[in-house]
Amino acid sequence: MPILVEGLGRLEYRGYDSAGIALQRKGRLEVVKKRGRLGELRAVLPKRHTATAGIAHTRWATHGEPSDRNAHPHLDASGAVSIVHNGIVENAAVLRAGLAAKGAVFTSDTDSEVLAALIADVFAGDLLAAVRHVLCGVVGTYGLAVLHRDCPGEIVIARNGSPVLIGVGEREMLVASDAAALIAHTRQVIYLEDGEVARLTARECHISDLAANVTQREAATLPAVIGDGDKGPHAHFTLKEISEQPDALRGVLRGRLDRRFSTARLGGLNLEPRQLMAFRRVKLLGCGSAYLSATIGAAMIEQLTRLPADAESAAEFRYRNPIIEADTLYLAVSQSGETFDTLAAVQEIQRKGGTVLGIVNVVGSTIARQCGAGIYLHAGPEVAVVSTKTFTNTLAALALLALFLGRMRDVSPAEGERLLDALEALPDQVQGLLDRADEFRRLAARYAHYNRAYFIGRGAGYGLAREGALKLKEVSYIHAEAYPASELKHGPLALVDPDTPTFAIVPDDDLLAKNLSSLAEIKARRGPVVAISHLASIGEADALVTVPRSHPLLDPILMLVPLQFLAYYAALERGCDVDRPRNLAKSVTVE
Ligand code: G6P
Repeated sequence: MPILVEGLGRLEYRGYDSAGIALQRKGRLEVVKKRGRLGELRAVLPKRHTATAGIAHTRWATHGEPSDRNAHPHLDASGAVSIVHNGIVENAAVLRAGLAAKGAVFTSDTDSEVLAALIADVFAGDLLAAVRHVLCGVVGTYGLAVLHRDCPGEIVIARNGSPVLIGVGEREMLVASDAAALIAHTRQVIYLEDGEVARLTARECHISDLAANVTQREAATLPAVIGDGDKGPHAHFTLKEISEQPDALRGVLRGRLDRRFSTARLGGLNLEPRQLMAFRRVKLLGCGSAYLSATIGAAMIEQLTRLPADAESAAEFRYRNPIIEADTLYLAVSQSGETFDTLAAVQEIQRKGGTVLGIVNVVGSTIARQCGAGIYLHAGPEVAVVSTKTFTNTLAALALLALFLGRMRDVSPAEGERLLDALEALPDQVQGLLDRADEFRRLAARYAHYNRAYFIGRGAGYGLAREGALKLKEVSYIHAEAYPASELKHGPLALVDPDTPTFAIVPDDDLLAKNLSSLAEIKARRGPVVAISHLASIGEADALVTVPRSHPLLDPILMLVPLQFLAYYAALERGCDVDRPRNLAKSVTVE
């Protein structure tokens, strides 16, 4: 039991709204589960337990509200089978109806519970056989672990679309959806693939597919640092990760600045120059902040390569039966490497013969392995739900890619040098902004009482405005909306008033005059204005954050830092749980 509770603790960062444990003991399954944080579960767990097999889960509600009865593990009505399930059983209604007709009783609103009932229904002494039989009739996604009271010391697991990995310990086998839960016990892991099932006992792990074809797989070794549970001197993981950005940037740049040819060195792309030159278009995909970072990266790539480049939400993309072109380079951006919609988009591209590279933080994650090539972000473990250092590193990685592809085309060595110099200067410039945290805290305190805000910008500045608004709403629950500055007068201006501040991205670039006139329009409606700019003074702004200059393509990185602090301190001012915002999960492995 302590291993399970500790493992759940290591997964807390993923975001959840209930938690539970099932233990197998003396021919019985005992389940304890509770809505809310892990502390609530701990409070009702037995003090001591001698069980040698168990499963546990933190749930992020999809089907059915967060509650004790909807929490996992689920038991079938007879108490013989217990399951934990990540993913969605799409044909749950049909399966439920079939079981209900036979008299089965359900106690939760979840799609997952049907799996426990089905397995109990077909079980005839062999748990693996029962699980295989049931999964052949399941439509949907699963990372599944199953206990049966009559199979002591045995856990059966299965995977389709949701990550599952086996930890090979000394005289113990562990299983988890995330390496962070295993690392305290073993670094030897076996990744289960889609369509596979496995029977685990303390000493053995037997992998096969649904048709019972046996698979032999060697264990891989996890990197030494995974899921850093320690906040160090920082009050929150969010602050820790904001503060780690200079080092994170050094991590993504390390060994990748090629001064000899004034370009980037990207060893993981696995594409020949001739293949890279054949691309006529670049398309980036991701979800949430990964998607927003991709919109800014697309602008960098388009500018340096003069190839049309754009970003799209991975979920939107995969559901519109996208046209996949052989001469388009696709890039899948993901911190966790486990986001279901991004993974599904990658698979759709590959199925249609397209080339897709992963821009991923977590080494060995599903998207990284599915792409097989790409750029690792090397930001280190990101634990807070909102992405901070990964966003920054994604921009830096995409700048490297833009430079690399650009230097194969029209970018001159001198221009390449300028970008390399600017990249190299970034970590210290970001450190300079971190040293100004007090200034940003005071700014946040001044604006945290407003209940709505606009964020505006143009070009890459608009992408940044979107990220600033997303960050603020995620952690402080202030309603924040982003608009291209040019769109203000086409509608949003109607809501500008003294109670609606606007945060404006105002770089000193070709569009400065246009941006200043947008600010004047806001001031004319008595809207408070906060500008993030290179300028040392802006008449139209009530408050100004002056950031250091960089290469124009890298401006978003430096302008992002004050927006991160703004969201962080505004959340604290409003008494919000900044590391674990309500309703959100760090990595969404369901559709
Ligand atoms: C969730 C998180 C976001 C994150 C998004 C994509 O929605 O709450 O912070 O940006 O997933 O995650 P990924 O791991 O693919 O970058």
